[in-house]
Amino acid sequence: MRVLVTGGAGYIGSHTTLALLQAGHEVLVVDDLSNASEESLRRVAALAGRTPAFIQANVRDEAALDAAFEGFTPDAVIHFAGWKAVGESTQIPLTYYRENLGSTFTLLEAMAKHDCHRIVFSSSATVYGEMSEPPFTEDAPTGATNPYGRTKHMIEQILADAVAADPGLAVGVLRYFNPIGAHSSGRIGEDPKGIPNNLLPFVAQVAAGRRDKLMVFGDDYPTPDGTGTRDYIHVVDLATGHLAALDKLADRSGYHVWNLGTGRPTSVLEIVGAFEKASGITVPYEIAPRRAGDVASSYAHPGKANAELGWSATHTIDEMCADTFRWQSANPNGYADA
Ligand code: NAD
Ligand code: WQD
Repeated sequence: MRVLVTGGAGYIGSHTTLALLQAGHEVLVVDDLSNASEESLRRVAALAGRTPAFIQANVRDEAALDAAFEGFTPDAVIHFAGWKAVGESTQIPLTYYRENLGSTFTLLEAMAKHDCHRIVFSSSATVYGEMSEPPFTEDAPTGATNPYGRTKHMIEQILADAVAADPGLAVGVLRYFNPIGAHSSGRIGEDPKGIPNNLLPFVAQVAAGRRDKLMVFGDDYPTPDGTGTRDYIHVVDLATGHLAALDKLADRSGYHVWNLGTGRPTSVLEIVGAFEKASGITVPYEIAPRRAGDVASSYAHPGKANAELGWSATHTIDEMCADTFRWQSANPNGYADA
């Protein structure tokens, strides 16, 4: 299969590009490198023994996208490209709407023009918010509490409308829970710019001595140890979920939503313990006030993806922490070390 991957140089995109190449597919990555380094793709090529095609362009660039579709003639698209920092999205909301919605419009129009009918979209468990209790099934109520989350929620609705107007379109919306970990080679992983927003990159940088201590945001949640619980999923499991969704959409048009999660909640303090075990390094932490906008607990009911995609997450929290530590140790400054 020929797969056009937007945002394929990023964290989840690079792991998925590798999985696609290893499964024998042809890949064209379109990424503007606004939050990634081309080094990730060089390493993906080395691991796969095959080089993905690459165009450095913004997905909103109609001419560049037209040329990409014309030259590559994809059978399917995976749309990772997007801005993703919740806090930043409250500061520069228009940028988030422009980049995330704009890229999706340009992409859907190029697909229609070039006879490409299959798309997998990166959505987020953030759309479940706190409107119902976990575990979340795909038919739980959805909404959003910040501009980033609203872009995901809006794009889901836009995709559903596109399918309603064109029943030949096959859309897979994947709602990721909390992706962590790295490829077991330690060659590719998450390389956040600046101070990490997410728990695992922050913990890894504390262990590496780049930051003094972890601030644990709240220990008075109604969870077993009082700290927030999340459904952490290994990025390689996430990658295989995309391949399973692409396969399913080959014989099933329409609009489909699948949760990609393990179904297991893990607390902040359990993550700290697992990371210490994996690394042999003590992670100093301090209890801090709750972070605005955080929910107490979020985890998937992954049964629909398990049954319909024949997919399930296989990696344990210990493996996720060990792989994060291997990546961080080998690349203390991410791809900048290359
Ligand atoms: P990432 O920032 O590492 O990857 C996104 C990639 O898209 C980057 O390489 C960036 O350079 C590129 N990009 C952004 N806007 C672009 C544009 N308009 N045109 C071309 N390239 C563009 O992020 P990630 O963690 O790999 O996330 C991938 C997708 O998954 C995003 O859509 C994100 O919202 C979604 N998602 C991520 C998480 C998470 O916790 N990482 C959770 C749920 C959903
Ligand atoms: C996990 C837990 C924090 C950092 C975010 C986005 C979501 C999705 C995934 C894209 C929480 C606690 C964190 C720290 C801490 N992204 N924490 N100290 O908030 O579940 O989800 O990333 O779609 O939309 O909101 O992930 O990794 O930030 O936090 O105590 O320094 O770790 O309070 O309980 P979150 P996270």
